[in-house]
Amino acid sequence: MDAKKQNILPVTQADMQEQQASMDRIRQINDGYTLQNGRPRFAYVLTFGCQQNEADSEKIAGMCRQMGYRISDGPENCDLIVVNTCAIREHAEIKALSTIGQFKHLKEKNRELVIAVCGCMVSQSHRVEQIKKSYPYVDFVFGTASLHRFPELLGRKLSLGRRLFESDTATYALAEGIPVDRSHPFKAWVSIMYGCNNFCSYCIVPYVRGRERSRDRRAVYDEVADLVSRGYRDITLLGQNVNSYGKSEHMDYDFADLLKDLSGIPGDYRLRFMTSHPKDASDKLIDVMADHPHIARHFHLPLQSGSDRILKAMNRHYDLDRFLHCADYIRKRMPDCVLTSDIIVGFPGETDEDFERTLEALKLIRFDMLYSFLFSPRVGTPAASMPDPVPEDVKGARFRRLLEVQNEIALEKNREAVGSTLTVLCDGPSKENGSLMAGRTDGNKIVFFEGEPGDAGCFLDVRVDRADPYALYGTRI
Ligand code: 5AD
Ligand code: SF4
Repeated sequence: MDAKKQNILPVTQADMQEQQASMDRIRQINDGYTLQNGRPRFAYVLTFGCQQNEADSEKIAGMCRQMGYRISDGPENCDLIVVNTCAIREHAEIKALSTIGQFKHLKEKNRELVIAVCGCMVSQSHRVEQIKKSYPYVDFVFGTASLHRFPELLGRKLSLGRRLFESDTATYALAEGIPVDRSHPFKAWVSIMYGCNNFCSYCIVPYVRGRERSRDRRAVYDEVADLVSRGYRDITLLGQNVNSYGKSEHMDYDFADLLKDLSGIPGDYRLRFMTSHPKDASDKLIDVMADHPHIARHFHLPLQSGSDRILKAMNRHYDLDRFLHCADYIRKRMPDCVLTSDIIVGFPGETDEDFERTLEALKLIRFDMLYSFLFSPRVGTPAASMPDPVPEDVKGARFRRLLEVQNEIALEKNREAVGSTLTVLCDGPSKENGSLMAGRTDGNKIVFFEGEPGDAGCFLDVRVDRADPYALYGTRI
């Protein structure tokens, strides 16, 4: 079937009842096991990739818990391992495959161990074939389309005993009511939409996550209101392209309307969102952000390239001028807004001149932070078969140059904050700077400061004393 023309199939009540019945059955089996062995069964959920995948894994863990598994923080001595994979670049796939390889010895030690692989990597038929052939200790595989059917698939695996490869390529509407095991005590991720219709020529997402579909606005509102009432302080709305929220459903209600309504929920919290597409980031959305203090002053707007020629080849549907308008309007309405972006270096056919355009764009826009990636050809995408005469070492040199330019800008931008007092949501003791606490500003910049472990989850005022390109350092006042 033409991937671009897939229909969105409904998830029926009967489908969800079947999942509940499977969860109940497995729970009974697991409770019986606990009684007999004096120990519960343990599940380990390992996640690769983006925040959307993290959010999906919270659902997998939620379902595991309902099935009577305890969630473990490592794979040793577990009864079930679920690896949620990513396919955005080759590196992500290699990492997942090598990790799955390391689980072979666990299966040798414990024949009862069930190993499942799910997510974007195994939503591609060539990777499913590879797992089938080369990873015989993987028991079952399911793609992103079958996430809500995890209990039914696990039940089938447990009762039939044979390996299962769920190669369901249909796009399903978003299933409501899946239990969620939240991984963070005061930060939460809420998927508001799934999939993507943009087909940027380098990107695998539309193929592995299917067509764009949005959740019902009331379901989103209720979930966010519930999180706020339970003390969540930092809530991120997730979607591959949040600006097209509701479009596939022809809702007369867009993302700006949703944000506005959500920011009316009373409480002490910040709302964030990821990711926006510059072609449809509207002035209306920027106005809503500017007018509602609960919405964090952070805009992640992926530019990808500063060359109009490359943007066209990427099928991005905007040019640098359009992007500059967005960035200017964001800064006009919110001078303190942190602007971050993504850049791909070494897209097929990128010339020195194209690359210079990207550097010029970075110097002009001055992003606070940049995620930069070397182009990675993805099987089945148009860019993977475009002629690409640029040698790898030239791409590598461009990448290093980009980092140099951006580091300088990031340092200057961070230094602008020195002397100011910022509200920081304290995350708790820092992993990098042993004795210090770490926190995030409204713009999602990381700040290190002296504090107490009890500060975690509190909004605090911190005066910024110094800065490097990656972080701010300050004093609690
Ligand atoms: N190669 C390199 N980077 C990619 N991205 C998406 N697909 C590819 C690819 N094939 C980057 C884009 C996107 C971010 C999430 O990942 O910059 O915005
Ligand atoms: Fe990929 Fe483009 Fe969709 Fe983002 S908007 S997920 S880069 S296809």
